[in-house]
Amino acid sequence: MSEALLTVSGLTMRFGGLLAVDQVEFEVRKNEVFAIIGPNGAGKTTVFNCVGGFYKPTTGAIVMGNKPITGLPSHKVARHGLVRTFQNVRLFKNLTVLENLLVAQHTHMETGLLQGLLKLPSFRHSEANAKKQAVQWLDFMGIREYANREAGNLAYGHQRRLEIARCMITQPRLLMLDEPAAGLNPQEKRELQALIDQLRREYGVAVLLIEHDMSLVMGVSDRILVMEHGKPIITGLPQEVRTDPRVIKAYLGE
Ligand SMILES: Nc1ncnc2c1ncn2[C@@H]1O[C@H](COP(=O)(O)OP(=O)(O)OP(=O)(O)O)[C@@H](O)[C@H]1O
Ligand SMILES: [Mg+2]
Repeated sequence: MSEALLTVSGLTMRFGGLLAVDQVEFEVRKNEVFAIIGPNGAGKTTVFNCVGGFYKPTTGAIVMGNKPITGLPSHKVARHGLVRTFQNVRLFKNLTVLENLLVAQHTHMETGLLQGLLKLPSFRHSEANAKKQAVQWLDFMGIREYANREAGNLAYGHQRRLEIARCMITQPRLLMLDEPAAGLNPQEKRELQALIDQLRREYGVAVLLIEHDMSLVMGVSDRILVMEHGKPIITGLPQEVRTDPRVIKAYLGE
């Protein structure tokens, strides 16, 4: 059994009187695809927001490798190798496709503002390198021909791919995808499944996935956590989860 990469324990998030996440526990292992599913409002995105440093959890511990990251802001969480996409695509819509990938790398580049202003060789070198990386990722995602187009003008499926490229270019250890198949057509969904498989195989990344599309979830996940009303109801293999009466009840209401 492979080692834990991300360990979440006793995670609770309260919004006023609402317990959006209630004692959620799970671990994501190295190179694993781990999915969180559950009906609308179950608390899935709130788990992402806590893990990714967008919310400070009410209680609980989040550990990446052996480093506690609970309560760190998202840019610091990213430095631990954990990055995410959003349920609603968030790109710099007025920047070009290529620029979106260059911006993403800046936070991870070693060279600072001073080197940039002085245009020192180290800065020019890293700029050239950043561009090379960006173009490679555009190639990989099949969207290189749109490099100089405004990101907001891309077809929706391509925006989703660009968002994943923007994560991958920072070389994460854990990629968090919040409903990546939403709004995609059946062909694009099949391509997304192949893409997730390829990312974990070729880049060794682990994936934490929130998704409503059952065919994608069952096809791509190693293990699945089912949530309902903020609570974890079962964690298991796809075939275990699919046939669990509690899961069927959560989805069908009886
Ligand atoms: N910032 C917030 N302030 C107050 N309540 C919130 C906030 N964020 C989420 N909630 C509430 O927490 C609950 C869980 O929401 P969450 O977005 O995590 O669900 P979800 O499982 O991602 O649902 P969906 O499948 O519809 O995306 C909902 O009742 C939601 O209204
Ligand atoms: Mg959500």
